[in-house]
Parts: sequence; structure tokens; C-alpha cells
Amino acid sequence: MNKYLLSLFAFVAVSALSSQTPAVFQVDVSRPGADISPFMWGIFFEDINMGADGGLYSELVKNRSFEFNAPLMGWKEVKKNAASGSILVENRQGENAANPRYIHVKARAGKGDFGLINEGFRGMGFKKDLAYEFSIWSKSATGKLVFHIEMLDAKGSVIGSTTLVPIDSKMWNKQTVSLQCNATEPKGSLRIWFAGNGSADLDMISLFPTDTWKKRSGGLRADLVQLLADMKPGFMRFPGGCIVEGHELSTRYQWKKTIGPVEERQVNINRWNAEFAHRPTPDYYQSFGLGFFEYFQLCADIGAEPLPILNCGMACQFNTSEVVPLDQLDPYVQDALDLIEFANGDTTTPGGKMRAQMGHPKPFNMKLLGVGNEQWGEQYVDRFTVFQKALKSRYPNILLVTSAGPAPEGEMFQYLSHKMDSLGADIIDEHYYQSPAWFLQNAGRYDKYDRNGPRIFAGEYAAQSDRVISTENRNNWRCALAEAAFMTGLERNADLVRMASYAPLMAHVDGWQWKPDMIWMDNLRSFGTPNYYVQKMYATNRGDRLLPVLYNNSAVTGQDSLYATASFEQAGNEVIIKIVNAAGVAKPAEMILNGALKANSTAKVTVMQSNDLASENSLDDPMHLVPVSQTASVKNGKISTTLPPYSFTIYRIKTK
Ligand code: AHR
Repeated sequence: MNKYLLSLFAFVAVSALSSQTPAVFQVDVSRPGADISPFMWGIFFEDINMGADGGLYSELVKNRSFEFNAPLMGWKEVKKNAASGSILVENRQGENAANPRYIHVKARAGKGDFGLINEGFRGMGFKKDLAYEFSIWSKSATGKLVFHIEMLDAKGSVIGSTTLVPIDSKMWNKQTVSLQCNATEPKGSLRIWFAGNGSADLDMISLFPTDTWKKRSGGLRADLVQLLADMKPGFMRFPGGCIVEGHELSTRYQWKKTIGPVEERQVNINRWNAEFAHRPTPDYYQSFGLGFFEYFQLCADIGAEPLPILNCGMACQFNTSEVVPLDQLDPYVQDALDLIEFANGDTTTPGGKMRAQMGHPKPFNMKLLGVGNEQWGEQYVDRFTVFQKALKSRYPNILLVTSAGPAPEGEMFQYLSHKMDSLGADIIDEHYYQSPAWFLQNAGRYDKYDRNGPRIFAGEYAAQSDRVISTENRNNWRCALAEAAFMTGLERNADLVRMASYAPLMAHVDGWQWKPDMIWMDNLRSFGTPNYYVQKMYATNRGDRLLPVLYNNSAVTGQDSLYATASFEQAGNEVIIKIVNAAGVAKPAEMILNGALKANSTAKVTVMQSNDLASENSLDDPMHLVPVSQTASVKNGKISTTLPPYSFTIYRIKTK
């Protein structure tokens, strides 16, 4: 296009814009309304998409305890020359029911002749110049065995090594050695040569980086926790999700099996292992190295209220739908009571004592508890009623979160909403996996909700660019912008909607089952999607009290593709205005603030914008679409601005 035509187009565009009447938003600073829950914007964690093992939990060895159904899955024998060596899987059920299997290794070999390789979780991520902690449990070592431990790059070259001589003992012993890595490798592996002439029993073969979150030994991946911490989440829901329920009751999540020494935590098959025929993950198990203690500790670290969700005697209703008979529900209820004691009891109680032994004498001060995940039907109401009675009589101040089923509308949803209302439930957990259009159309969803019933938890939501469970779903700007628009409605109704979380939280690029997801990772890198940044913008700009914001005398719920909400933050005496322009054209706008403002001042502005609704972030371009900071001048209580096309903007204005 020639210069003349370009400037003509630019002139026409600017004239069109300036000829538009500005959209006027009236914000009444003098009339703060309902309080916004301090834990309004939180996170939903589930071990799906390799979120825990292979993800947040930084263990690099897959199947370290040989407890997968195929006991040597993830391991490969290497044998050369005339080396004689064998691996036998043995089972000591009577001695350690939670971790019965181990291997008996017999070798008559030189270094480089007989050994085992562990492939890691789609490889192992190694970092140059970082120390790694290798540990192993052994017993009954006979003869003279030396273990040569090697970190390998993708081509099989050694990039870190050390040796270890197993202790000669009839008892199980843990030994730890350090390895220094001399190259960065995203797809490495671990090799152990069994050199010498002898035998030994081995278990819990483990390798961790030392740069974990807070440098905790055997801890969590620091880059991923940092992304969570940066959001300043108000709460953290854990451990899911359908994983709470299990495919069948025997594989449900049982919190007591996830605490205490890691070598005594019973491995479970991950319920996402074979859930989707189009995304099978046969090597997906739960080691529970990230168990309930680590979860509470993480919440304390990042300042999030814990929100555990427990099984209520029901297996997943998309799978077996097994239920526990009502007269046999006691152990399930007891589990819930015991969890409260583990989290909050003083150290003279068995639960509190256990917590102290694990390193946290101070109570975690848990205030919220979910009963069941995505349950529905009369069978849920019956079971919830039993839990409610038992929990409320013992712990009346713990707020119970209850299911509304998997969909945000329809018969099943209506039934549960009414039932929970009549039972006086505290908080109902609504889930929406819907199209971007649905999110845009439903920004007014809660404006007309009954204020006398239970409070609402928007417990799982994400706009689906294609459809639920489609592998084509994208974490793009179209979806994130629609979520930002919908969330104005959550915040505007903060008297009713007390909590909200995007779902799922994390996914490994080589090990996912479900898309979209808020944070993506490989073995070394991670990034926040545009959806992540929208969540972060809300969570870090919450405000404590709602302020009325009107557009042509009405709440702003999508008229002219505009969405808005406003709040007041006491700490800095700031007014916070959030505006979404979901249209593909810029809009001149005015924000008129009535109230205690300085005559002239400067507003801090954070904008996320792209003309391309298909914009995404990626491992190679993690900051492609992120919020940017600007300023705007406030003159006599008014901001005159232009809202860019497809934009989400937050203004922070200091009051007197
Ligand atoms: O977030 C993925 C799944 O979606 C959750 O496990 C479940 O609660 C919902 O159906």
C-alpha cells in the first residue's frame, strides 16, 4: 500500500474514533458496598497433565519405588559384554504394606557392564552447574558392590557422576550423595552401574535438583511455585478435581496415605492414566511426594487459604459411579474430621502431633473444606447431609463447599442448587467449561441470584476455544478476554460469589490429557498463558469493597461489548476499575469518579491487549502477550481515554 493510501486510512480511522461519543462510566467512590472476600481469587490444583509427578513435585525418577502395576515401568536394564547380572522384583507385603516392592540386584560385572536406566518423566531436566541429590534405600548388600551413578544427556553422554558403596546392613538404610551437573539438558536420564561382585536389595531410587522452592530437600519446582506465588492467590483448592473421586472407590484420593515419610506413602494409579483413549498416559501414577503436608506448607508459603476437597463416599460419576452405603460412611466422615485435626489441632492431639513431627507445629488454620468434587443426584445429597451434620456439630466455623454437579445449568444443577439451599449449605461450587461466547453472555449471571441462599464458589472455569475435552482447545487471547469479561460479573457480585478459580492449573507439554490449562511447562521451563495473566491481574488488584460502576445507569454487562467492575482498596486508599473492551475497535471512554479524589492526579494503568484473538504465549515466547504498565491523568475526577480493541484494562487511582 502506498504512503498516500496509508495516511488516508489512518485519517479515516482517527476521525471515526474521534467522532464516536465516549462511553461514560460513572464510579461512585463515596458509596463502598459489599466486602470482597480476601480469598476471592485463588488457584485450583489437580494432579492432571503431570501437574504433580513430573511437574510441581521435582522428583526426577519415575517409579522410584517399583510400585507401578508394571514394576519396572520407566526402568531399563543395560547389560554388556559377558557381564552377569539380574534384577528380581520382590514383595515384602507383610513388612511394608504401603510400599511392598523393591528390587534384588545381583551383579558380577565391571563398571559399564550391568545397570539400570531411568527415563524420568518424558526425560529429566538437568541444569548446568547445579548440584543434584541422589538417594537410595538398600539392605542386605553382600560381596563388593559399587554403584556408579551417572546423569546422561539425550545422546547418552555423561554430564554428571558419582559413586556410592551400599552399607552392609540387614536393615533398610537410606544413603544420599551429591552430583554436580556440567551441562543443561531437557531430556536427560539417570544410569546406575552395578559394578563388582555381589547383591543388594534396593528401593526408593531418587534424584532431585537442589534449586527447589525454598531449597527444601525433595521439594517443589521453584519456577512453578514462583508463578503461583506471583499471583498472590487467595486460596488453593487441592487435590482436585475428579482425582478426589477416583475412577472407582479403591483408587480414590485418601489424604492419610499422602503424609508421613515418603517411603511409606502408598502409590496410586492416577485417575487420568487411562481416562481419555485419545491421550493415554499409562505411566501416570501418584507418588504423593506432594501430599497433604506439602500442600498445607505451600499454602502457608504463598499466603493462600487451604481449601481441601475430600471424597464423600462416591467414585467419579463419569466412570463407575460407585458409592459407599450410607451405613458405612463413617470412615469417610472420620477422614474429614481427622484432616481438620491434622491441619488445626494443637500438638497434643494425634493429628497436631503428626503435623509437628513433619515440621509444622503451628496450626495451618484451615477454614474451608469441600465435601465431594463434581457429584450430583440424590446420592450426593444423602451423603453430603451426613458429612454436614458431623462436621458442623464438631467444627461449626469450618465453611463447607458443596457440589453443584458438572454443569452450570440444567435439571441436575437446579435440583442440587435447591437442595443445598434447603440444607443451609455454606458455599456451592459451580463449574463452567464453556465457549468464549458463553462467558461473554453470562457476565450478568449472578446479578439476579438469590442473596439469601448459599454463597457461590466459581470453582472450575475455563473458556474452551473448541469444545470440552477437545485436544484442539487453545489458551489464546479470545478465551482469556472472555474470562476477563465474565470475571467482572463475579467481582460485581462479590457479596455472593466469594471465591473463584480457573481450571486446570498446570500441564506438561509432553504429558497432558486436558486442554486448556493456565500454566504450561516442560522439564526445565514454564510460562503463564494469557489466561494466567488475566487471573493474576484480578488477584493482584482485588480491592476490599465493591464500588458501584454504571454505564447509562446500568451495570456494565456487555452493552456495546463493554464490561466493568470497580472496588476500593483500603491499604493504599485506591479506587480500582477493571474494564474489558471485547470489541475489535477502539472505544473512546470517560471514567467519572464521584467522591474524595484529588483534583488532579495520575492513575496507574495495567493493560492487556492484542488485536489478534489467536495470540498465545509459548515456551519459546513466554511473554508474547502479557500486561503492560502505563499511566493516565485524572483531571477533576475524570479520566478521558481510549479503550484499545480487545483489551482488558485496570486503573488504580489514589483517593485523598
Ligand atoms: O479440570 C479438569 C476436570 O474437570 C476436573 O477434574 C473435574 O472436576 C472437571 O470435570
